[in-house]
Amino acid sequence: MSETNLQVLLASRPQGWPTESNFSIVETPLPEPRAGEVLVRNHYLSLDPYMRWRMNDAKSYATPVALGEVMVGRTVGEVVTSNNSKFKPGDKVIGYLGWQLSGVSDGANLQVVADSKLPLSAYLGVLGMPGATAWIGLMDICAPKAGQTVLVTAASGAVGSVVGQLAKIHGARVVGIAGGRDKCRYVIEELGFDACIDYKAGTLRPDINAATPTGIDCLFENVGGEIFDSLLPRMNAFSRIAICGLISEYNSEPYPLKNIGSVLINRIKIQGFIVSDHMERWPLAHQELREHLTSGRIKYRESVAHGLRAAPAALIGLLKGQNFGKQLVKLI
Ligand SMILES: NC(=O)c1ccc[n+]([C@@H]2O[C@H](COP(=O)([O-])OP(=O)(O)OC[C@H]3O[C@@H](n4cnc5c(N)ncnc54)[C@H](OP(=O)(O)O)[C@@H]3O)[C@@H](O)[C@H]2O)c1
Repeated sequence: MSETNLQVLLASRPQGWPTESNFSIVETPLPEPRAGEVLVRNHYLSLDPYMRWRMNDAKSYATPVALGEVMVGRTVGEVVTSNNSKFKPGDKVIGYLGWQLSGVSDGANLQVVADSKLPLSAYLGVLGMPGATAWIGLMDICAPKAGQTVLVTAASGAVGSVVGQLAKIHGARVVGIAGGRDKCRYVIEELGFDACIDYKAGTLRPDINAATPTGIDCLFENVGGEIFDSLLPRMNAFSRIAICGLISEYNSEPYPLKNIGSVLINRIKIQGFIVSDHMERWPLAHQELREHLTSGRIKYRESVAHGLRAAPAALIGLLKGQNFGKQLVKLI
């Protein structure tokens, strides 16, 4: 193993869209694990939309990344050296070691992979944070009944694809919104959604009306902005909205909603949520998702960038919708 480490640091805070110059890539000495610590060689880094928020110095649910610090991120990898009795060299582990090839952990945020027969990368997608997000937002907040209509935005992505497939398993009629014909074809033909609206086609409102003839009972919102505003008038009485993400607004001013009156008129229950507030639900969520995955009821797709140096461009691409499925960086 190389004696040096490679890290991506936050070099400056973006104003609006991030650029590659907001990051710096540095070679550093390989860290030495102390007593109680382990050294992990990361195999995959997960890229996620929340990382854009961590680049801002603004009040949020989590602390911003400091300038000059390693960018935060979930990782899967292998224990190389262990000074901690809970881990041994060769263990495959899920961690939060950030944008770097190797990292040291005291074990607190490190979990040994339960089932090594599944691809390691799945623990950053369906069996990781995005899968838990989909499960908690759908099952605990939206709680759809069989026959109801569930609409999910960013439908082909890491979270949205799991939301739609889970909702189908639970008997709902599922409509997705995605950018482009290929993504829409995928969610219908591969993932089994009932309908998909291509918001880039230029006919968003009539397409929403056509795809939701009996209105929407559960909206799993990943995008925000004009798409969210256009969906509000289609919500049924006593429907639910899980606000999971607002990705269309992460690099711009907030969108001024025009249809918020629908929340009152339709007595909509609307709840924002952050998956890390619900850690007690992760084991059940992952157990069910693992069963669906191994039985083939849930499928997933990945976009893989190669090498740590490709991470900044891949995060910028994710924010622009250039990913198709869970965005990862392969590090080995
Ligand atoms: N609340 C939580 O705890 C939590 C946890 C995880 C994720 N999230 C949120 O869930 C959402 C999805 O995350 P993910 O990891 O699954 O990402 P993802 O869907 O795999 O990738 C992001 C997708 O967002 C879509 N998008 C980007 N800009 C857009 C725009 N202006 N208008 C419409 N769609 C746009 C793109 O798909 P198209 O090509 O289809 O536009 C892009 O592929 C994000 O908002 C994220 O912040 C929240």
